[in-house]
Amino acid sequence: MTDPLAALAAAVEVLPDDTALRLRYAGLLVDAGRLTDAIAQAAAVLQREPGNADAQALVRRAADAAGGADAGGAGTGDTERSATPGSPTTAPSSPSTPVTPATPAADDGIDWHALERDIGVVTPPPFVTEQGTSDDDPVPIAELRRETTRLADVGGLDGVKRRIEESFLQPMAHPDIARAFGKTLRGGLLLYGPPGCGKTFIARAIAGELGAHFLSVSLNGVLDKYIGESEKNVHRVFEQARAAAPAVLFFDEMDAIGGKRSAGQWSSFRNVVNQLLVEMDGVDARNDGLYVLAATNHPWDVDAALKRPGRFDRMVFVGPPDDVAREAVLRVHLRERPIEGIDLGALVRRTRGFSGADLQHLVTTAAEKAMAESIRTGTVRPIRMTDVRDALHEVRPSIGPWVQAARNVAEFANTSGEYDDLAAWLRTEKPRG
Ligand SMILES: Nc1ncnc2c1ncn2[C@@H]1O[C@H](COP(=O)(O)OP(=O)(O)OP(=O)(O)O)[C@@H](O)[C@H]1O
Ligand SMILES: [Mg+2]
Repeated sequence: MTDPLAALAAAVEVLPDDTALRLRYAGLLVDAGRLTDAIAQAAAVLQREPGNADAQALVRRAADAAGGADAGGAGTGDTERSATPGSPTTAPSSPSTPVTPATPAADDGIDWHALERDIGVVTPPPFVTEQGTSDDDPVPIAELRRETTRLADVGGLDGVKRRIEESFLQPMAHPDIARAFGKTLRGGLLLYGPPGCGKTFIARAIAGELGAHFLSVSLNGVLDKYIGESEKNVHRVFEQARAAAPAVLFFDEMDAIGGKRSAGQWSSFRNVVNQLLVEMDGVDARNDGLYVLAATNHPWDVDAALKRPGRFDRMVFVGPPDDVAREAVLRVHLRERPIEGIDLGALVRRTRGFSGADLQHLVTTAAEKAMAESIRTGTVRPIRMTDVRDALHEVRPSIGPWVQAARNVAEFANTSGEYDDLAAWLRTEKPRG
């Protein structure tokens, strides 16, 4: 009795991000002759994954069927790259039949306007793509404006700093010596760790060390809703970096673009991942002097292909700030505030497991308490230990959920040893979560 279409419709409702499911549903809709619905489903996929070939094929199949072409299936149609052969999108208001004179379009019940709107992302009109797509156009690379942070400002994290020094700061400063040791400056390093623990901060410090040789890539600048544009943008970014070589190209929040296929909505960036692979591979000398740095909270969601040799083949764990780092972070945030009798050592001890962001939140909360009382009494008073103690009741370490995920990865997905750093940290620190 169960209608498979109804069952699939319900399933799609529950799992809206499951592309395969939605495409199966769309396929059955085409078979059932419900072409508008089928196209709507395929368009929903294309909106998220403009390059999805199965969805494109489905749209073509549905459009062919709607156009009255032999829907028998012989022509799965690889002749056209765009969704419809020429006409419906170019003459939506025309009452006359656009493609096949034998079938009146109006009878198909297809809302060509809606269709055009939905699949517009797939086939950008030429007059739009013409602007701003020349290969010479620079892609917005976020300037880390005259970064004054230096590596010395990063508290603690000595191991991480050493890796960074050895892997590219020193080779960049002494290229001749590096060459004599057969070390070419190329490859990639992936910083990973819980949120708010200094990955971006470290990148800013590297920018401070390198000046114009550090290029930070803005994700929004690279990702483009038009098919093919994001890949071109990735290429342009790499070209810009090559022109500035020796240079470090930095991708922050890498999970967003390097996501593996199964990782829900990010799978739409498959083509971007592929382009990254192409750019990073460079078998010739193109990439000499180009170092790629990336940061992510979830390295396990970064496509495995991106982690193979020659790409992001080194991973460095950036854990929660150790004692020295916590003191540095607390100092920074307390420095410009009125304080009295703050026992920094006690605070450092009380904040084990706090991320940099948690520490900042803690100081802000303590400051708010002092301020609230100042307003209440009409007398301005500095931040005292009592404020911080009160704040400690409210601000808790935020990395628990991340630790849980990390523990699973270290336990069940560390067969190749890539998470040894993380596993060691979990063993010695025994973080809560
Ligand atoms: N070792 C450190 N020394 C000094 N400040 C630090 C250190 N670690 C973190 N901080 C501070 O903590 C805050 C959060 O750090 P940051 O934004 O770099 O974290 P993140 O790892 O990039 O987080 P997310 O994963 O959320 O992007 C920053 O304001 C930074 O100043
Ligand atoms: Mg960050």
